Amino acid sequence: MTPGKRKAGRGFYITTPIYYVNDIPHIGHAYTTIAADILARHNRMRGLPVFFLTGTDEHGQKVQKAAEARGLSPKAHADRMVENFKTLWKTLDISYDGFIRTTDPEHKKIVRELLQRLWDGGLIEKRSYTGWYCTPDERFWTEKDLIEGKCPDCGRDVEKIEEQNYFFLMSRYQNCLIDYIEGKSFSMGNIAYIGNPSYIRPDTRRNEVLGFLKSQPLGDLCISRPKKRLAWGIPLPFDEEFVTYVWFDALVNYYSGPQYLAPHDASWWPADAHLIGKDILTTHAVYWSCMLMALGLALPGTIFAHGWWTIEGKKMSKSVGNVVDPAEICGEYGADAFRYFLMREIPFGHDGDFSKSAFINRFNTDLANDLGNLLSRTLTMIEKYRGGVIPGPLTTKFRRKQYKEIDGTAHELVLEGDVQDGFLSLEEDRTYERHIGEMNFYAALSQLWEIAVRRVNKCIEDSAPWKEKDGDTLSNLLYTFAESLRVIAIYVYPIMPSSAREIWRQLGMEEKVEEDIRKNPGHFEWGGYPIAGLKVKKGGALFPRIVTITEKITSTEKVEIKKETLKMQEAKANEVAETQKSDNGNLIGMEDFAKTELKAGKVLRAEAVKGSNKLLRLEVDLGEEAPRQVIAGIGKKYSPEELEGKTVIIVANLKPARLMGLESRGMLLAATDADGTLSVLTADRDIKPGAKIK
Ligand code: ME8
Ligand code: MG
Repeated sequence: MTPGKRKAGRGFYITTPIYYVNDIPHIGHAYTTIAADILARHNRMRGLPVFFLTGTDEHGQKVQKAAEARGLSPKAHADRMVENFKTLWKTLDISYDGFIRTTDPEHKKIVRELLQRLWDGGLIEKRSYTGWYCTPDERFWTEKDLIEGKCPDCGRDVEKIEEQNYFFLMSRYQNCLIDYIEGKSFSMGNIAYIGNPSYIRPDTRRNEVLGFLKSQPLGDLCISRPKKRLAWGIPLPFDEEFVTYVWFDALVNYYSGPQYLAPHDASWWPADAHLIGKDILTTHAVYWSCMLMALGLALPGTIFAHGWWTIEGKKMSKSVGNVVDPAEICGEYGADAFRYFLMREIPFGHDGDFSKSAFINRFNTDLANDLGNLLSRTLTMIEKYRGGVIPGPLTTKFRRKQYKEIDGTAHELVLEGDVQDGFLSLEEDRTYERHIGEMNFYAALSQLWEIAVRRVNKCIEDSAPWKEKDGDTLSNLLYTFAESLRVIAIYVYPIMPSSAREIWRQLGMEEKVEEDIRKNPGHFEWGGYPIAGLKVKKGGALFPRIVTITEKITSTEKVEIKKETLKMQEAKANEVAETQKSDNGNLIGMEDFAKTELKAGKVLRAEAVKGSNKLLRLEVDLGEEAPRQVIAGIGKKYSPEELEGKTVIIVANLKPARLMGLESRGMLLAATDADGTLSVLTADRDIKPGAKIK
């Protein structure tokens, strides 16, 4: 057997970091755990046995100190703190299968067994050691590691310490690890390691690790702390005067956890994926990988290090007081919206900023306007036109007439379509699968909204069922919308489990989305489950629109504000007039500006122009007959996915131009600052495509 490769069909094992019990869980902890939960639910729904492990890191100096300060034993302190995590995971709908605490006796036993194995194999040595120790980080640094005499990681003071310690001979594995990450296979002892180029992800992190490994000789790892300095840890099995370094203890959780927390019928190692933040990349990519090779154990499938969240543009910190409490946001807007936002706002792997306005914006657009509205209008129509019972699909095609005024005369248009218009085709499903498999949640969600949620909404507008006279056509349309919702809910489920269940409930089905699909994968398919004849149960809005303070202002207040604004405008006008007097050269009159026709437009599609790394081809809805093609030179700063769905500003009356053989009908406005940062101008509120800017 080759432990480098997981045996096919065995299941899916996913982990989060085990979090320090000292911290109160915040948005960062929630982020990693939600991502792991999505992968767990996604795989479970597809019938794979899943083991999803999370937990807490409870040994070490920081915990010992915090406990002392509270007058508690470290264990009693941990017992209390661990509840914060468990409670939050409940609030966030985290479906973990195992919760490991490093103080679990089973875990401690396994750590000691592994240490003994390395000791017996001559892979641990006792040495005298002088080093610089950072207490808060619990890490030794060499003289040359230090930056201006401080900890290179956190910038705090370090302490010079000389002592005897035990070292894991990590340096031996440097070259093997480089080979493995570069995709070269090798054997060690009688074990074959099959090189894995996607071991460290995303690529930026992989390059970082390779850079680190190739630029300097890898040192050995100090894996002990003398008991007289730190008592709170797992004693070394071969020298009880020492406890285990907290990172050695913590990393072993991934291997020990499934042995006593997972169902006994499966052997779970190696994990398919370790999800972590980029702050702990080295400990995982280097320490843990070397530990596993030394133990003759397989390496995990992927170590994915995601990016860092800031809050309203600032680093999150207790002293700044900007720590986001996920429970508070969930209490106000629901766990699903929070989960959706974190996954949709930035690609997994990039850094992101959490701001209230970005959250509200996304909530109102994607959730309230798009998904929530789709459900409520569909059910309203079924109630109004079909007495609340979902009609059956009568034919697979619909054909209807519509009159449209073109140049002052009414033209008869015959619309023909498939009742399946607006649902996910099988091919598109595969891209969705691929995106999720690659942990590209952002792309999966943008795609789902584009090809399903928004498409069905558009189908409703285009087919205008409320004008429908022909009963069969109306039945077909209503069925199509309801069935689309049933399928959309399945795809939405891993990200927003409660909302998916609620959609099913309102459609008159049972709420068991996951159980149902597991039992019967056929229900995934269009028409795979008979919804015709079900009585819908219209409920409250799925995502009630968030009304912002400015919208809440009463009319008398508005008058006051208007007066204020007028005064300010007057003052501004005077100021402008003043400056005009002194400097008239660069100024233009209103009549010049009025020549430019600026309009708000919605980007329906965006894609790279073949053969150019700068140009993007956009299809922009300007509220006209057909979307306009606009070619924009922003491809180095924006990805197509980022632009889709955005409401942008277009110069609408520009003479058409040709770029790389493509006609551009209009120009996209963007601002560039002195640093070269480019930002596409967008509309602050939801506004209809075609809105004039003046
Ligand atoms: O490091 N943005 O635990 P920890 C994104 N016990 N993710 C963030 C974040 C932020 N601002 N802040 C925290 C430890 N995280 C060790 C791990 S594992 C064997 C031992 C997340 O409580 C992210 O996943 O400091 C990061 O890696 C983790 O919390 C660190 O949690
Ligand atoms: Mg940390």
